[in-house]
Amino acid sequence: MDSKNTDQNPSRASWSGQIGFILAAAASAIGLGNLWRFPYLAAQYGGGTFILIYLVLVVTLGFTLMVTEIALGRMTQQSQLTAYGKLQPGFGFVGLLSTIIPVIIVPYYCVIGGWVLKYFWTYLRIVFGNQNATEALADSGAFFTGFISAPFAPFGFGLLFILICALVIVLGVKDGIERSNKIMMPLLFAMAVGISIYVCCLPGSGEGIKYYLIPNMDSLRAVGEDGAAHFSLAQLGKTILGAMGQMFYSLSLAMGIMITYGSYMRKEDSIEKCVRRIEIFDTLIAIVAGLMIIPVVYMFAVKTGVTPELIAQTGSEEAAKLTAVKSAMNAGPGLMFVTLPKVFAGFGAAGPWVGVFFFLLVIFAALTSAISLYEACVASVCDLLHIDRKPATFFTFFLIAFLAVFSAIGYGAWGKVTMSAALQNMGFAGEWAKSAFFSMQFLDFFDFITNSFLMPIVAAFTCLFVGWVVKTKAIEDEVLHGEAKFAAAGFYRVMVKFIAPALILAILVSEICRNLGIGGWKI
Ligand code: PHE
Repeated sequence: MDSKNTDQNPSRASWSGQIGFILAAAASAIGLGNLWRFPYLAAQYGGGTFILIYLVLVVTLGFTLMVTEIALGRMTQQSQLTAYGKLQPGFGFVGLLSTIIPVIIVPYYCVIGGWVLKYFWTYLRIVFGNQNATEALADSGAFFTGFISAPFAPFGFGLLFILICALVIVLGVKDGIERSNKIMMPLLFAMAVGISIYVCCLPGSGEGIKYYLIPNMDSLRAVGEDGAAHFSLAQLGKTILGAMGQMFYSLSLAMGIMITYGSYMRKEDSIEKCVRRIEIFDTLIAIVAGLMIIPVVYMFAVKTGVTPELIAQTGSEEAAKLTAVKSAMNAGPGLMFVTLPKVFAGFGAAGPWVGVFFFLLVIFAALTSAISLYEACVASVCDLLHIDRKPATFFTFFLIAFLAVFSAIGYGAWGKVTMSAALQNMGFAGEWAKSAFFSMQFLDFFDFITNSFLMPIVAAFTCLFVGWVVKTKAIEDEVLHGEAKFAAAGFYRVMVKFIAPALILAILVSEICRNLGIGGWKI
């Protein structure tokens, strides 16, 4: 067996320094999850209450997992595919599982990236006075469905997105990934702050900001048998689990990316400090994204969604408002691609410009995340086959492009190709064969098996592997390379051995129940 603590491998690529690493990890972490998923979950789960719970989870569970992954990578000088097996033969299967995750995610992430490119392109045409584009976007719902179900366009834009990632990756860790991050990340930050200031200064945005930031305990209550609302442990559990799933996704944990990125980190840099900074950046952008989106969606939903029928149904105008806002925020991809364009249309002459900047911001966020996913695949191919970056990038490009076909045309020509259809053809007539789970489109299915299933499994195995097989001492020694003391060592030990695996298993069980519709578990 190899020695556990490998010295820096001089032939392995590395970041230029601590800032390069922090920027790269933050660039991976900040993505569609921050811009779209965080605001909508916060709106669903009571605003400030959700944000508080999320913050606590980031500095405890998120911290533990991220330190673990980065240390595993730097210690073994390997990407995730080979890192586990190198430490303990027989555990290579965890590496394999964690490599499958980015291989499944990149293709569909790039297809969504392609949708964003399409919107950016359309807004750019509007800004330059193309009347057809303005008319096309006027009914953004029809525009969106028309686009994602077109035979070739979604794949074409997705392919362009994959190609951009490949070009950056082929240039290498320092000259490709680090350099592109240095351009895109500051711009992303500036645009996010700029748009949120613009939105918060719009007349009438105050109510939406309050709704987003002030903790709302109603979301932790459920109506009891006496007809009154009481604090509900089940509601609290759901909020915690929702925040936990979001935290994993947002920090790019449990899919080996941080192992690969950690393997490029210099021994003299401090893991603990880097992790704290990455967490601050990622959380800050998520909160700012909410300030960019929630106030305008709030105003829009109140203006268009509070009908006399809804007031009658919900009992009061206040309740109707909340219902309308929740349903607008819960529109899934429709929130970004249908609702926001409608909101921007109400901004008059500024609208198309806000659209251009907003979608450019989303492109940067999605690109830097997709690059990290793609890099995790390329690094694994390099480490496994001992080949160079160029052929590895080339080979992975074809694999990703091929897999992207399924997600790209899954809403159009292959819209009827689902497991449910296949099962019914095979003669299974039960209600279960028609359930939401078996009726998913390709893209949703890939999203489900990675986020709800494979990621918790890999995360739980990683904690148990480090806590009980490799032992936490190895990780603590690795952290101590870059700093005089590991301040949170005691806390880290308890988290990784006991608390983290237990919490992660809770996510796994709840996600499976939610997706199979067991126990009325729905968000
Ligand atoms: N962390 C990214 C986000 O918030 C998502 C992501 C998922 C990035 C998987 C890389 C890998 O959107």
